[in-house]
Amino acid sequence: MTNAMKAFCDRKFGMFIHWGLYALPGGRHNGKAMETIGEWFQSYFRMPNAEYAEFAPKFNPVKFNADDWIRKASAAGVKYIVFTTKHHDGFCMYDTKVSDYNIVKMTPFGRDPLRELQHACAKYGVKLGIYYSHHLDWHEKDGGDPAPERGLNCGHMHWGNDWDFPNRSEKNFANYFYGKVIPQITELLTNYGEICELWCDCPMDIKPEFSQALRALVKKLQPDCMINSRIGNDCQDFMGLGDNQLLTNKLDYPVESPGTLNSTWGFKYDDHNWKSPEQVISQLVSLTEKNANYLLNVGPTPEGEFTPETDQIFAAIADWIHDKKDAIHATSPNPFPQELDFAFCTAKEKTLNFFLKKNPAELSLSGIHGKLVSASVDFKQDGDQIFLKLPDFHGQFLPLVKLTFDSIPEITKKIIPQNGGMVLGMSIGTIHEVKDEQESRQEIVDEAAVTHIVTTHATYDRDGTIWNWKNTTDYVTWEIEFPEGGEYEVFLFTQTRWKGQPWDGGRLMEVTWNGQSISNILNKDEQLPSFHNLRYVSKLGMLKINKGERGQLTLRTLRIDSKEAGQLNLASVRLMRK
Ligand code: GLC
Repeated sequence: MTNAMKAFCDRKFGMFIHWGLYALPGGRHNGKAMETIGEWFQSYFRMPNAEYAEFAPKFNPVKFNADDWIRKASAAGVKYIVFTTKHHDGFCMYDTKVSDYNIVKMTPFGRDPLRELQHACAKYGVKLGIYYSHHLDWHEKDGGDPAPERGLNCGHMHWGNDWDFPNRSEKNFANYFYGKVIPQITELLTNYGEICELWCDCPMDIKPEFSQALRALVKKLQPDCMINSRIGNDCQDFMGLGDNQLLTNKLDYPVESPGTLNSTWGFKYDDHNWKSPEQVISQLVSLTEKNANYLLNVGPTPEGEFTPETDQIFAAIADWIHDKKDAIHATSPNPFPQELDFAFCTAKEKTLNFFLKKNPAELSLSGIHGKLVSASVDFKQDGDQIFLKLPDFHGQFLPLVKLTFDSIPEITKKIIPQNGGMVLGMSIGTIHEVKDEQESRQEIVDEAAVTHIVTTHATYDRDGTIWNWKNTTDYVTWEIEFPEGGEYEVFLFTQTRWKGQPWDGGRLMEVTWNGQSISNILNKDEQLPSFHNLRYVSKLGMLKINKGERGQLTLRTLRIDSKEAGQLNLASVRLMRK
């Protein structure tokens, strides 16, 4: 891992800022309200460039105060920001010599917000990153215009500007790319000091030569600037997840998950679907323990302020995190081989940090080698087992319990129950592919416009789940051990992949263990929170396990009853002692 990658991973928490001319209409036009994301205003209403440009002389965000934004972000534990220097509308939110279509030249405001943010970031020790729409640019005749087969965004918004420039055959993307993108990225990476991250978007069918040229330029100007995967054509330094997506286990490469505070990125008057501070904090800690960064978005108002809801959420995060920053920033991921059902866990040097999801009176941890010297709760250590007595945390959200050892503790690599529970994430199991007759291949384009070749075989998705497992021959196994016996209830955790995809449990799943077998179709026994997809827990049955038993637990698909059920993503098998 390079130093830049390490620094990227250490930051953990970023603030995305979507701010541009679209904030002014805020999703409303001629008495109609947009149903989709606010920064797509121009495409949604198919507004000609001449008309959209009329927002510029009205854009005067006199309440904008970069210091205020960054102070609030920093108090909430934010270590970097990513600011929209140019979104798909093509309007530049910084002082550029390449195009007059910018905030300094065209608005009465006349200031350069990127420069002011640069200074505020330096003051608070926050790193500066930039969003730049490298492919789509509706202002330019030659801006990216993905092939019609790519469909429409959210079902009805054109990716390219086909309302001002309907003739696709007259478009020459290279003119736009070498005439605007390359010189602007040069300005941005030359005039604003250190840029920690370049955030490209919507690569769609951009040709490899352009992604490669952009990468080469960035690496020449600022080799440590980290590039996201939406640059396209595998030219990235880190993988971006889908919007609001969570992971099911840690991955061993740098990852970032962009998240919204409500349902839009750019400000909208009519979006009141705000997340609670607890939901946001839980996303942050859940990603942190899996080695992923959380890039949480704000959509400032046309006056240049955060909405009151944004302020409240950030103040609540600040309140929660002020005595826990050390357990978040620059930590390493959960050192246990499996996710823990009772806590999120991070590690730093000799300390293990547990953010408790539950508040039982006692907790038992197994397979920890190292002498426990201090803890924030009462403890007893017996060999490689640790017993904790937990106080009543009085409804505190994800309270932190710290265990400090005399040296870096060594955690068993074996999958054994922790506090009576075992979480068998798909990514810590082994997929066994068996050839079968139903085999097929299919090309699927996902919401981040990445093309995947999928077959009927069980395949890892980029969040560590298994998806599109449509055959009945493959199986997944885990090597596990039970130092203590007992009756264990077995659950399957599944989720949908696409936003809007219905969850369909019509598949018969089987778990076998040392001669016992249990099977069930998937019922909606419990729904789990998510902003990205639908997640459910289904009961499979009960296993009787003897003390010291070890072996291979196997998961099979016995039957798939419908098409959607075949597309269901499998996240984990969980065993909980009764
Ligand atoms: C999607 C939207 C884009 C937004 C981005 C943030 O790609 O199309 O408008 O900037 O998500 O992740």
